[in-house]
Amino acid sequence: MAASISSRLSVVVADVHSGREDAFLVLAERLHQVLARKDYARAETIRDEAVPSRFYLVRFWASAEAARQSHADPEMNELHTELHRVALVAHAINGARESLKEGASSVRPGGLERDRRAGFDRRLRDVGRPAGDRRNLQERRMGPRRASESPFDLVGAARRARQHAAAAFSQFKVGAALETSEGTVVTGCNVENATYGLTVCAERVAMFTALAKGHRQFTRIAIVADTESPTPPCGACRQILWEFGGDLEIRLANLTEDTGTYRLKDLLPLPFDARLLRQS
Ligand code: THU
Repeated sequence: MAASISSRLSVVVADVHSGREDAFLVLAERLHQVLARKDYARAETIRDEAVPSRFYLVRFWASAEAARQSHADPEMNELHTELHRVALVAHAINGARESLKEGASSVRPGGLERDRRAGFDRRLRDVGRPAGDRRNLQERRMGPRRASESPFDLVGAARRARQHAAAAFSQFKVGAALETSEGTVVTGCNVENATYGLTVCAERVAMFTALAKGHRQFTRIAIVADTESPTPPCGACRQILWEFGGDLEIRLANLTEDTGTYRLKDLLPLPFDARLLRQS
């Protein structure tokens, strides 16, 4: 399957755990085969020349739709779960279009997109309307908030991210997966340290990572902890999520099931943000 001008490219960096290289290569081959059999993508796995345990899983998606279908496909998710057992996996390029070299001016390189919807500008226009999240007609047409239409298994991504939690002091591992309006998913886990107070929650790690990669528009976040009742974001995270993500959809889940879906404005009903700074 040749990559067409409208196709998308994803690159995953896999740092294979020591002694698991054979298992990784078998798995990578299985991934290639399933992607090809289902017409999702042409894939290749390339070993890093400088770091022998590092591989790049490159996927040339047949189309954006094929990428979405693959993300929602339980067989693919199963393979990704296995992949996370043998390697530390990070998304380097997520769905960048290839058409830049064709000179298409409408293409926005992933991660460099200007803020069209969320962030301070939008809220400054909302001065005097404390409920926030009022999207005008133009913003609606841009359509970045179609969270419920996206089939990507965001909760699955948060569960996988949770495995990396550095929670030696509380043993309370949390994973978060934040979806951008372009469909990129950025994950985070909680990171604790010996001073306790410098702990950063999974949600903020995900948001700060996404911001550092240049993302500015977000649709939803999944948060996973191993608790029977929902583990909602703490107050500090609600503030950060609100300021940078607006009225996100918040999906809470534990290791086996969804425990609730909320809107951030319901969890943070009277928010402090830049609108108020402009009034003093
Ligand atoms: N934690 C999160 O990462 N997210 C939450 O929503 C709640 C709490 C972390 C912080 C700390 O590492 C541990 O969970 C116990 O509070």
